[in-house]
Amino acid sequence: MPYTPPRFPLRKGNTSRKAHANIPEGAVEIEHGRKGFFGNVSHLYKSHKPTSWNRVEGPLKHHSFSLLNLKTEDMSDPNVNPTLLFYNNECEISLSRRVSEMPFYARNADGDLCIFIHRGEGVMESDYGRIDFSKGDYIIIPRGTSYRMVPRSEDNFYLIIEASDSEYNLPDRGMLGPTAQIDPAMIETPELPEYPTRPDDEWEVRIKRSDEYTSVYYDFNPVEDTIGWKGDVTVWKVNIDDFNPVMSPKYHLPPSVHTTFIARGFVICSFVPRPLEDPDVLRIPFYHSNIEYDELLFYHDGNFFSRHGINEADVTLHPPGILHGPQPQAFDKVQNNPAKTHSGEKAVMIDTRSPLKMTDAVKDVENPEYINSWKEE
Ligand SMILES: [Fe+2]
Repeated sequence: MPYTPPRFPLRKGNTSRKAHANIPEGAVEIEHGRKGFFGNVSHLYKSHKPTSWNRVEGPLKHHSFSLLNLKTEDMSDPNVNPTLLFYNNECEISLSRRVSEMPFYARNADGDLCIFIHRGEGVMESDYGRIDFSKGDYIIIPRGTSYRMVPRSEDNFYLIIEASDSEYNLPDRGMLGPTAQIDPAMIETPELPEYPTRPDDEWEVRIKRSDEYTSVYYDFNPVEDTIGWKGDVTVWKVNIDDFNPVMSPKYHLPPSVHTTFIARGFVICSFVPRPLEDPDVLRIPFYHSNIEYDELLFYHDGNFFSRHGINEADVTLHPPGILHGPQPQAFDKVQNNPAKTHSGEKAVMIDTRSPLKMTDAVKDVENPEYINSWKEE
């Protein structure tokens, strides 16, 4: 007979009675969970923090990057493509910091896009019409849609997340009901304006397929010739401020409760300001080994309460296997500080089932000392 692991909680030694509360004096709690916080789980209580390493040797380590230091090519040349930062078979994460409008239409034939507007505002033109965008918007562009970004601002910063060969969906809200977290009524779609708004010059449609580019040229505008459309495939957007956080004063909910979009092989979660838990409950992230997912976190706005030395537009990448959790400063700043009643951070997390690879462009803006940031001062 094959061995069937226990499907009921066992308990050995000195533990708290329930997860994330009344942790034994002097101990730290580690969550050892499966399937990105949805699966079977154990909590271990240890007398040392798992991040109190002397040193780490080998390829597996935590990373942080300062993306504001990355001067993308499209800052000086509007005709180039976004800069690829991270990738695997299921997703590609790129950065655009263009200061002026795209002189071509892009069409992605590899996957759907989610463009997160970290900075800037403008209008996105597409086969489905025009949609204004501003800070904090997530714009979802179905695979095969022609579009171009026309910024109104000069300081722009777009994080582009390609769901390679899958669609973006909203997660099932289960018992929370269909209007929790994101009320679908908050979703905005483009409008067809009175055309034409653009001259009938030669226009390029630049198609990405298998990470190669093909350009098709027309002597008319190939987007503004849409006279109408019907159906349930279109461009749509929601703002990170439209995401309603879920919390419990008596239980530190796992990051999976912030899931905003689901794609094949990864999820996108939104961390937004919310009340903190009661003082006897864990209020900062637990130490964990999210053993099946790489965790990439993009810091959008506000006060990043769980991380020390992190600035706006920084990215951290925590691979599974080597544990992570709050840095020592978070205990005084948040956990042991009753005056702190709310979190003030806005961040976008991308959890990927397959390991993310880094490009040379993003390695150039890595902070090499991040792995030592858990050291007690
Ligand atoms: Fe994590």
